[in-house]
Amino acid sequence: MPKLKVVTFGCQANELDSARITGTLAKAGYTLTEDEAEADLVILNGCSIREKAEQKLYSRLGTLQALKAKNPRLQLGVAGCLAQREGEALPRRFPYLDLVVGNGEHIAEIPQLLTISRGRPSVATSEPIGLFPEDVEIQRDSRIRAWVGIMEGCDNFCAFCVVPFTRGRERSRHPDDILREVMHLREAGYKEITLLGQTVNSYGRKLDPPVSFAELLRRIDAAVGPGMRVRFTTSHPRDITPELAEAMARLDSVCEHIHLPVQAGSTRTLTRMERNYTRQEYLEKVSLLRSAVPELTITTDIIAGFPGETEADFAETLSLMEQVGFDACFAFKFSARRGTPAADLPDQVPEPDKSERLSRVFGLQARLSLERNRWLVGRTVEVMADHDLQKRDPRLGSGRTRQNKIVHFWGGEVQEGSLLTVQITEATSHHLKGLLIARL
Ligand code: 5AD
Ligand code: SF4
Repeated sequence: MPKLKVVTFGCQANELDSARITGTLAKAGYTLTEDEAEADLVILNGCSIREKAEQKLYSRLGTLQALKAKNPRLQLGVAGCLAQREGEALPRRFPYLDLVVGNGEHIAEIPQLLTISRGRPSVATSEPIGLFPEDVEIQRDSRIRAWVGIMEGCDNFCAFCVVPFTRGRERSRHPDDILREVMHLREAGYKEITLLGQTVNSYGRKLDPPVSFAELLRRIDAAVGPGMRVRFTTSHPRDITPELAEAMARLDSVCEHIHLPVQAGSTRTLTRMERNYTRQEYLEKVSLLRSAVPELTITTDIIAGFPGETEADFAETLSLMEQVGFDACFAFKFSARRGTPAADLPDQVPEPDKSERLSRVFGLQARLSLERNRWLVGRTVEVMADHDLQKRDPRLGSGRTRQNKIVHFWGGEVQEGSLLTVQITEATSHHLKGLLIARL
């Protein structure tokens, strides 16, 4: 049997796509290997959100070229947003590539593309328009946690972002298909699902009849019953509605965590980013969510050094972080991406200023995360055991709270996916420590 290795770069959507690639190729007779040296096919599933992500993949390709020189039977492919965006340019630059395959329905085409690629690269990167062909197999790594795609693409065209170009227009999967997959996962023993999409909370607008994201959550909650955790990511601040806040408050399965990228704290920068909300509106959405779900944790994304961002604008990002008290934040230096409006803005922020601002964001977030985590010391929380988070010390169990905080705890062996009560005894900015009190 031919052997396959898939290497994932990038976000959760890429992780799910890698599971789709693996599933598709498993059906075509491939088995997985961790060892590139014994692989017959290596696919790099690439990200193009920032330049650094692309560079990582290109340097990996360099090592694979050397491997291919020794083993000419080895087939090499690039997939994901990077393949979608670069298309024909990739085999021109890397003539030893066999396969360049974009997003969406192109994944299902891989087995056929491979058979015709001998001697000449196969490229399939027309704009993805299809939607989760229900017959694409998904081979997941975890047996307790699963990503469930509910929509693809994005129509927002934020000024800095390549995603609307790499994943195509927003399209939502039919709720019945989603429910079928969720129930199947539940029967297979999965304990947690994360609904995935670029802006999940704009789900269903284009369906006929439309179905709101809150309605989808209600249907999923009613179907899965107790004992299963439901998460979702990523949410757009503009599409936070009272209906969604109410659903989060009322539905037992829906966890008390939201990832709500703010990107910047000054309305001037937000407008230039074309984010479609002001600082004030973002804060109002946070209040709406918090008044419905008081124990909600909020995480965010921040871009440091967007073109035209002044020191005063940046100070507003820091003050907004303090005001909200984010639990965690993913922060990035602005990366000018060819083809996006922000790349052509005249007043690009110099690299040293971007780096300096980024490190101030990290510094502030470390303090905020620590404050938020310390608040939990002395309390008892519900933890779902997760062996993937396990530390080196085998006496320590690991898991996540409903609020998505990582907890390491003393108190003996626990079964993966089981629910536990843990008393929190210690906090750092990254995780909590505690004592196992009970198995639920
Ligand atoms: N430069 C820096 N960060 C970016 N992101 C998206 N595009 C860029 C870019 N050009 C960040 C945003 C987004 C996250 C997934 O990546 O913060 O929310
Ligand atoms: Fe990119 Fe904006 Fe769409 Fe998010 S909402 S994927 S940042 S264009």
